[in-house]
Amino acid sequence: MANRTNQELMALRQKHVPPGPFNITPIFAQRAKGAVIEDVEGKQYIDFAGGIGVENVGHCAEQVVAAIKEQAEQFIHTCFHVVMYEPYVELAKKMNEVTPGDFPKKTMFVNSGAEAVENGVKIARYATKRPAIIAFQNAFHGRTYMAMTLTSQVKPYKWGFGPFCPEVYRMPYAYCYRCPFGLEYPACEIHCAEYLEEFFIGHVAADSVAALIVEPVQGEGGFIVPPQGYFNKLKAICEKHGIIFIMDEIQAGMGRTGKLFASEHFDVIPDIILTGKSIAAGLPLAGITGKAELMDKPHVGGLGGTYGGNPIACKAGLAVLDTLNADMLDTSKNLGEKLRKRLVDLQSRYEIIGDVRGLGPMIGMELVKDRKSKDPAADDAKELVRRCYENGLIVISCGVYHNVIRILVPFVITDDQLEQGFAILEDMLKGIA
Ligand SMILES: Cc1ncc(COP(=O)(O)O)c(C=O)c1O
Repeated sequence: MANRTNQELMALRQKHVPPGPFNITPIFAQRAKGAVIEDVEGKQYIDFAGGIGVENVGHCAEQVVAAIKEQAEQFIHTCFHVVMYEPYVELAKKMNEVTPGDFPKKTMFVNSGAEAVENGVKIARYATKRPAIIAFQNAFHGRTYMAMTLTSQVKPYKWGFGPFCPEVYRMPYAYCYRCPFGLEYPACEIHCAEYLEEFFIGHVAADSVAALIVEPVQGEGGFIVPPQGYFNKLKAICEKHGIIFIMDEIQAGMGRTGKLFASEHFDVIPDIILTGKSIAAGLPLAGITGKAELMDKPHVGGLGGTYGGNPIACKAGLAVLDTLNADMLDTSKNLGEKLRKRLVDLQSRYEIIGDVRGLGPMIGMELVKDRKSKDPAADDAKELVRRCYENGLIVISCGVYHNVIRILVPFVITDDQLEQGFAILEDMLKGIA
């Protein structure tokens, strides 16, 4: 391939690729390592996005690259349904061991987070013989039809793509900065979780509900962290009514919050846990791990797919789990503390930062036009993302109001790189705030 510039490649992209698959920056990657991406013109960027939460262990982590190479030289694909292979069963065993819950579990693998969501729903419906699924406001679960239906944000994810799947019901989430009930924590006594019992009166009968699916920290929806006790209350109500509790840890899992799984912060044990993104450091892989008694229900041949649990992806997944050892989780936790300090400091100096929130290094800041009215500053967030990229920092936004700057930086970022990143972020913030 000829050495092309970003602009030449962009012309090619525009001619041959539709606009639907969006681009946050107009650059093309040449190589990436740790927390730095270099584009085709040799310009380097500090990466605070990690491919949207996929590079927790860093771009091209040595152990991961070695595992990929080793597997690629042996065989690339046989299809797990035709001829099985060790990396799949070994990774399933490891996922059963490391996920929360001291009970027999089983894991199956698919290619993407959305597919994990689809399969979680299939298993829950099959196991309970019930039709309904409860999801949450601000939720994001992916772009396939059921995953998109469960997703709450209309633009851009759902707009024009209806009709959606039936039997999906939506509860408010514990978005304390903008409480859907106008209450304040802790005086509210987490009414938003208790509301589930009321929900069964006005929206859907409890005995029609197969599963409740929820993110431990809402990612795309705005890095929203519920208060302690929230999930325990929801889970207790689910248990009372025989509803399967599905935790979507696709963005929050694999060490992103300072613990291997975000559920661990809340002392809640899901019946089914969905993983993806950082599970294989960039290889397409996602997992559905659940109580064996549920996972064993669907009949033989009822679940699967040609590529699900591809051997190279599973080998990469095993390397990721090895890499995410206690030391790396400590690094993640420490990074979270550093990021919080930096963001809280920025908040004390820039009025535009209405809220800083997150768990560990899954942290973000919500930009508002005015701290009192909390009017979302979506245009400023967009401008900040653009200016940061132009100055060598890749950072992305999120939030139903598109006004949250989120940080999903690889844990292996060096202190120098972090300093550089924050220097750019603050400079750009000065320009717009
Ligand atoms: C919480 C959550 N669930 C599901 C998905 C969908 O994953 P994928 O894009 O791999 O289909 C995402 C992706 O951002 C996510 O953040």
